[in-house]
Amino acid sequence: MNTKFIIFSLLLALAASQTYSISPCTCTQLLSEGDCTKNAGLGCSWDSTKKSCGVSTTPVTPTVTYAAYCDTFAQSDCPKAKPCTDCGNYAACAWVENKCTYFTGCTAFAKTTKEECQAISNRCITDGTHCVEIDACSTYKKQLPCDKNASGSLCYWDTTNNTCVDANTCNKLPTTFVTDKDCRDVISTCTTQTGGGCIDSGNNCSDQTLEIQCVWNKLKTQACYWDGAACKDRICDNAPTTLTTDDTCKAFRTDGTCTTKANGGCVTRTTCAAATIQAACEEIAIGMELLVLIRHVQMLLLQ
Ligand SMILES: *[C@@H]1O[C@H](CO)[C@@H](O)[C@H](O)[C@H]1NC(C)=O
Ligand SMILES: *[C@@H]1O[C@H](CO)[C@@H](O)[C@H](O)[C@H]1NC(C)=O
Ligand SMILES: *[C@@H]1O[C@H](CO)[C@@H](O)[C@H](O)[C@H]1NC(C)=O
Repeated sequence: MNTKFIIFSLLLALAASQTYSISPCTCTQLLSEGDCTKNAGLGCSWDSTKKSCGVSTTPVTPTVTYAAYCDTFAQSDCPKAKPCTDCGNYAACAWVENKCTYFTGCTAFAKTTKEECQAISNRCITDGTHCVEIDACSTYKKQLPCDKNASGSLCYWDTTNNTCVDANTCNKLPTTFVTDKDCRDVISTCTTQTGGGCIDSGNNCSDQTLEIQCVWNKLKTQACYWDGAACKDRICDNAPTTLTTDDTCKAFRTDGTCTTKANGGCVTRTTCAAATIQAACEEIAIGMELLVLIRHVQMLLLQ
């Protein structure tokens, strides 16, 4: 079985070298850790300090066993096909020169667009020159593929160190993010800033200095309200006096807990029981006034 595998790998390597490059692929030509370690047939190992692939000094055992079923897949299914049960998340086949063949890694293919690489395998994107495997952010050596890791989380290109890292802080989120929601959907404690991109949210609503940031407090436990000059907690008492109807007060907070009050603005809606008591109070007050009036009339009539 092992011998068959090696022979098959060699045949593949030979076929690949004849079709796609002048010389056979060597370990040093493999640019990503994924390609390096998964091409067991070449006997390569990844040097994580040098970030390079070299010939392994210790014997490498293949991590992937597979069946050569790839040629049964049509072009549309081939880049996604998983004929093996132990291939992990990855497709085991690749669409190459009009046929579906066993996938040996992305970097063998010189393609300049993401679409071309994806058409070969769902594991591949381009670095501008070659296809590279979609993997951890830290495996991308160029800025172009430094977009998302294999789990779909965003990556960030550090221009100082020329490295690709996880976009795990507010300042590493892309400048195409222009709303509080864009930022919080990825990291919930971030808000937006002028010119795009994200920064750490202020702790309280009152700490948010811009209207575009005045949406939530840092922990997203308190909604905020921009009163035209400052950011405040979105509580009934902070509603503007321009709100004069029950409906506008109700709409001021999504939980509908605000109701109108005299002279505009809102107060927290009291319970039904309290409202009934208040209404009852008013009725009693009216009744008392009537009683007083009747007494006056009676006294007038008696005179
Ligand atoms: C992708 O990034 C996320 C967040 O940084 C991390 O939790 C996850 O393990 C990464 N996945 C891969 C395949 O690198
Ligand atoms: C560059 O890398 C060094 C060492 O890993 C790190 O301490 C530093 O924060 C990085 N620079 C930037 C701008 O992130
Ligand atoms: C702001 O929030 C902190 C806790 O996050 C709290 O201790 C503090 O009292 C708040 N300040 C104001 C002005 O609300």
